[in-house]
Amino acid sequence: MTILVTGGAGFIGSNFVLDWLAQSDEPVLTLDALTYAGNRENLASLAGDARHTFVHGDITDRALVDRLMAEHRPRAIVHFAAESHVDRSIHGPGAFIRTNIQGTFTLLEAARMHWQALADEAKAAFRFLHVSTDEVYGSLAPDAPAFTETHPFEPNSPYSASKAASDHLVRAWHHTYGLPVLTTNCSNNYGPYHFPEKLIPLMIVNALAGKPLPVYGDGQQIRDWLYVKDHCAAIRRVLEAGRLGETYNVGGWNEKANIDIVKTVCALLDEMQPSAEGPYARLITYVKDRPGHDRRYAIDARKLEHELGWKPAETFETGIRKTVRWVLDHPDWVQRVQSGAYRDWVATQYPA
Ligand code: NAD
Ligand code: TYD
Repeated sequence: MTILVTGGAGFIGSNFVLDWLAQSDEPVLTLDALTYAGNRENLASLAGDARHTFVHGDITDRALVDRLMAEHRPRAIVHFAAESHVDRSIHGPGAFIRTNIQGTFTLLEAARMHWQALADEAKAAFRFLHVSTDEVYGSLAPDAPAFTETHPFEPNSPYSASKAASDHLVRAWHHTYGLPVLTTNCSNNYGPYHFPEKLIPLMIVNALAGKPLPVYGDGQQIRDWLYVKDHCAAIRRVLEAGRLGETYNVGGWNEKANIDIVKTVCALLDEMQPSAEGPYARLITYVKDRPGHDRRYAIDARKLEHELGWKPAETFETGIRKTVRWVLDHPDWVQRVQSGAYRDWVATQYPA
């Protein structure tokens, strides 16, 4: 048995692969294009581990995906690979259309051909798990109930529109062809290996460098925050027992305004690594708002809890403390990501 993980060198994917192999001996085949967001160093602890195979390649490459399916015969695909940053999607939406829509289509077609040719038992056991986002549901009014799985899709950014499109494709491949799919829509993740372009890691690394902490608009936008390892546990549970064709919302029950997140990070850094210049909150700088900025996301994760018994293990207070600690304990990782040296890691680690 093998599972194919796409995007396994990214933030959530690498946490998923590491956690999977810490708990199971079932091999993992990671397929990742190593875009700016992919970092093989995240999987460095698996070097020499026969249970893990890494393939540098693109999910839009149908011939490659077909070959991998034929050679490794995965019993499941866990699909993380995506362009994931809203601000980048505003500046350059093309890559989001290509990877998130065309790439998901390519994987679905390769999975369908593979699955259709399987013998009955393997066919019944096969799964395609698509990892998506709460951003497909759009923006909530301050007092509106949290997103349930039946909330209409109202994506507002090129990123969320491309993810919504991919969710629709996954749904259609189930309804039309019977492909055994599962979809998860989760809130904002945070934790180890988070690329410092997203709010929490950016604030930590900027604060440590004495740089401004850019808060968009009035800082009152609300997100729900989910510790990445809780997300990985939810995906494992959905893969194991989710009902075919269903979607499951995954959230941390932690709605917070951005400015409060930034102040919490500053306070933890004041405690763990105080600056001689004074409290880190002095660096908070309000900047121009993101165009089309969604005001509020909130996730109702009760379906996952009631049907499959999953609940997050971390509160925001415990998760954010672990996250700040992780960054402080991994200065080399941070330095190589900031300098761009992480892109040379493969050549350094595996000289020709
Ligand atoms: P990430 O940007 O950190 O990693 C994405 C990974 O996909 C990278 O390793 C990159 O190299 C790889 N990739 C990109 N294009 C590829 C292609 N064409 N072929 C193969 N690999 C490619 O993203 P993440 O934060 O780990 O998010 C993973 C998934 O979870 C995404 O589908 C994202 O939409 C979803 N998600 C993320 C969050 C979050 O808070 N980070 C929240 C909700 C949903
Ligand atoms: P981000 O981490 O980019 O995730 P998403 O846009 O997918 O929710 O941003 C989280 C929130 O933080 C979002 O409301 C935008 C805001 N933000 C800032 O205020 N400053 C920043 O520098 C960044 C990157 C984000």
